[in-house]
Amino acid sequence: MLEKYKEIIDEALLKYLDSLPSYTIYDPIKYMVNLGGKRFRSSLTLLASDLYGGNPNLAIKEAMAVELFHNFTLVHDDIMDQATLRRGQQTVHEKWSTNDAILSGDLLYALVNQILIESQSLNQSIHSVFHKTAIEVCEGQSLDMIFEEKNEVSEEEYLKMIKLKTAVLVACALKMGAMVGGATETDAQFLYNFGINLGIAFQIHDDILDAYPVGEKFGKKIGGDILEKKKTLMFISMLNQLSKKEKIHVNSLYESNDIKDKEIVNQIKVLYDKYGVLDLAIRRKDNYHTEAISNIMQTSLNERSKEVLVMFAENLMNRNY
Ligand code: IPE
Ligand code: IPE
Ligand code: MG
Ligand code: MG
Ligand code: MG
Repeated sequence: MLEKYKEIIDEALLKYLDSLPSYTIYDPIKYMVNLGGKRFRSSLTLLASDLYGGNPNLAIKEAMAVELFHNFTLVHDDIMDQATLRRGQQTVHEKWSTNDAILSGDLLYALVNQILIESQSLNQSIHSVFHKTAIEVCEGQSLDMIFEEKNEVSEEEYLKMIKLKTAVLVACALKMGAMVGGATETDAQFLYNFGINLGIAFQIHDDILDAYPVGEKFGKKIGGDILEKKKTLMFISMLNQLSKKEKIHVNSLYESNDIKDKEIVNQIKVLYDKYGVLDLAIRRKDNYHTEAISNIMQTSLNERSKEVLVMFAENLMNRNY
């Protein structure tokens, strides 16, 4: 349904990548962006601009900035998460080196800021939505890493962390598009709230897929979050329910050097199943999804436009990659 927006983005990105210099430090950027991805954040920017102003192209620079910023965060995220696979291919730091991934990530972020300056809107309040978001994403990623080392993380802390690392960018994508399209402040805020709730549901779903991938398209290492001791809802809920004996067993899994990754993941998933943590995660995800839909209903958009957003959210919630 958003295929037409994805096509506009893909074409604009291709043209942009072609225009970049051929120095080697640009190669990881070209590689990463060409690996594809759903492009759903940038599609939302174009869609929001279209819904309010009747023209997706007005927001093309904002959309590119959002998509490239997302790709930048992934390059650095994969270093932090020690991830070897992304979109079914080697991660940048695996294919090149950690130094190359750091620097090409930094370069990509600098390019993003340059693109924003070139945007037609040149509207400070639109750009400040973006910059605030970039700051929050770093805060969220920092919490994500701090939580790896912490055994007691509450559900509330988890929700704050994923709101910052993931949801604010989805919200920002929508709000920037709406603002470019000329939405009222109230509507832009409703769309922002929609993005927050959708983004939270999206990250819970991402955490679920990490442990329970569906089909072949997943493209990341299965159980990567478990191996990094990520405090997902599922992991938190499991920790809260473990018996003393199981706690000792879980600790020994992580302390031992000779248990294979696959075995660690399998054993943790046995406990996930025992304590019904998948059901809990699905319930939470569904609640945020429902909340997101109610935000759409608060906007002044006509029924057809609302339906487009509802359908979009529905499709995103059923993704398997
Ligand atoms: C991955 O985002 C990072 C998260 C916030 C979970 P996507 O699942 O949107 O990644 P691509 O761009 O489609 O590969
Ligand atoms: C990613 O969260 C959030 C950001 C990149 C800001 P994850 O670490 O869960 O994303 P994946 O699973 O690696 O795509
Ligand atoms: Mg990651
Ligand atoms: Mg991460
Ligand atoms: Mg993930």
